[in-house]
Amino acid sequence: METRVLTDGGVTLSTPVPEDVDTITEACQDPAITEWTTMPAPYARSDAVRFVGDIVPAKWARGYPDWAIRTTDGGRLCGMVGFVDRGDAGPEIGYWVAPDARQRGLAAAAVRLACDFAFSPEGMGAWRIEWRAFVGNRPSRRLLDVPDSGSRVSRDTG
Ligand SMILES: CC(C)(COP(=O)(O)OP(=O)(O)OC[C@H]1O[C@@H](n2cnc3c(N)ncnc32)[C@H](O)[C@@H]1OP(=O)(O)O)[C@@H](O)C(=O)NCCC(=O)NCCS
Repeated sequence: METRVLTDGGVTLSTPVPEDVDTITEACQDPAITEWTTMPAPYARSDAVRFVGDIVPAKWARGYPDWAIRTTDGGRLCGMVGFVDRGDAGPEIGYWVAPDARQRGLAAAAVRLACDFAFSPEGMGAWRIEWRAFVGNRPSRRLLDVPDSGSRVSRDTG
């Protein structure tokens, strides 16, 4: 799949580039990110180098996007959103936002853009999207309750 840039005018999703490595590394020192996701912990700069240089291009090639979440005005990486292959369950969405960029609706906007792309026949053509979270991750669940944000995302808090 060709990489794609998505935007709603305020938030832009684009593939992470080598210049993002230090920002990703710094953000992923946040204990909440390593606690509530399956990312490496502790998170090293080499993890970010491998993610940007190897993992993201390989996933796009297989039709599973990963995007940097950027504010359209500044362009700085504020987080990541993407999908992993869960076979018949459909693509599973995952995301994180850097601590200093939270509570501004960035994750909600990014999830909305990513899910619209996943469901679109011109995007991934998915018929369902999987969402999973560790029990107790209320911030992650709450953002899916924002109107029109991932309203078709399946929920399983078990
Ligand atoms: C979960 C996570 C991605 C949320 O990111 P976020 O950018 O703060 O999320 P949002 O700002 O979109 O939504 C958070 C809150 O802002 C509110 N919000 C939405 N749009 C808003 C806006 N324009 N202005 C202000 N607040 C807004 C949401 O309603 C939500 O309200 P809440 O405080 O009742 O929860 C972030 O906390 C995180 O990275 N956590 C660690 C990693 C993680 O858990 N990933 C998910 C694994 S399943």
